[in-house]
Amino acid sequence: MSIELRNVNYFYSDNLINSYQALDNINLTINDGDIVAIAGETGAGKSTLAEIIAGLLTPTSGNVFVDGANIYANKNKNEKILAKKAKQKIGMVFQYSDRQLFEETVEKDIAFAPKEMRFSDEIIKEKVSCAMNLMGISEDMKEAVPYNLSGGEKKRVAIAGILSFSPKYLILDEPTVGLDAFYRDEILKLILHLNKKENTTIVLISHSMETIAEIANKIIVMKGGKILKHDTVYNIFNDKKLLNEAKLKQPKITAFLKKLKDVGLNVKTDIIKFDDGVKNIIEALR
Ligand SMILES: Nc1ncnc2c1ncn2[C@@H]1O[C@H](COP(=O)(O)OP(=O)(O)O)[C@@H](O)[C@H]1O
Ligand SMILES: [Mg+2]
Repeated sequence: MSIELRNVNYFYSDNLINSYQALDNINLTINDGDIVAIAGETGAGKSTLAEIIAGLLTPTSGNVFVDGANIYANKNKNEKILAKKAKQKIGMVFQYSDRQLFEETVEKDIAFAPKEMRFSDEIIKEKVSCAMNLMGISEDMKEAVPYNLSGGEKKRVAIAGILSFSPKYLILDEPTVGLDAFYRDEILKLILHLNKKENTTIVLISHSMETIAEIANKIIVMKGGKILKHDTVYNIFNDKKLLNEAKLKQPKITAFLKKLKDVGLNVKTDIIKFDDGVKNIIEALR
């Protein structure tokens, strides 16, 4: 099963005269079990693409299929029911948490989606408490007003509110921005756990090449509303021409290995994960 985009275009428009093409003929398949990163400079169209994949923004033209169902189909009642069902398999954590949080307490916010999906009260309680545990949200935060929380706390509540309905496809738009280092690492661990143990497919927008190198297996590189390349992390990070064009960088460890090589240490220069790089340097020094 998979998410498929076929000939997707998206125009933002204030009125008929002013419109701006944010996505330009996107064709894309995201396979079950992938952790795919979306990378590209600000304005490349990453968030727009993510919201279209998540079923939140109707393409101006083109189609999006989730496990074979067209999630924007609305010709008749049957199509609409199938589309709604398919959309419920997807959860999206927004770049800005304020867009996600709207209930009057933290607990209500986290319980919102499972309630919408009409789970029993008992199951809802269990799902909420499980999501709170995963995000390190303490019992005494339950009654807090989301609006009054710090940026990092809001982010954790927003993520908990998505985890509470265990989506099969999880889309995260810069989830670690504004978080303390501790929670950043926790979220990355959680993403890997969900992917490996719960078989959750992950779409991750990130500006951190190191984060992408650590956890993703594929990267979609975007520029000016187009996909420049969709390939393995290894192939993307070793394509210098592409990285330049998209204004992206190699992970720091890769650049560091290159510098060591230039001064005569016999290391590999195509390693992208930090731990692998360290191992290689130690071997070269022996
Ligand atoms: N609500 C909007 N109205 C008009 N233009 C928008 C809107 N949201 C985004 N855009 C424009 O669409 C382009 C892509 O934006 P976005 O998908 O947010 O890019 P990214 O997430 O890669 O920074 C940008 O040029 C941005 O200015
Ligand atoms: Mg964005």
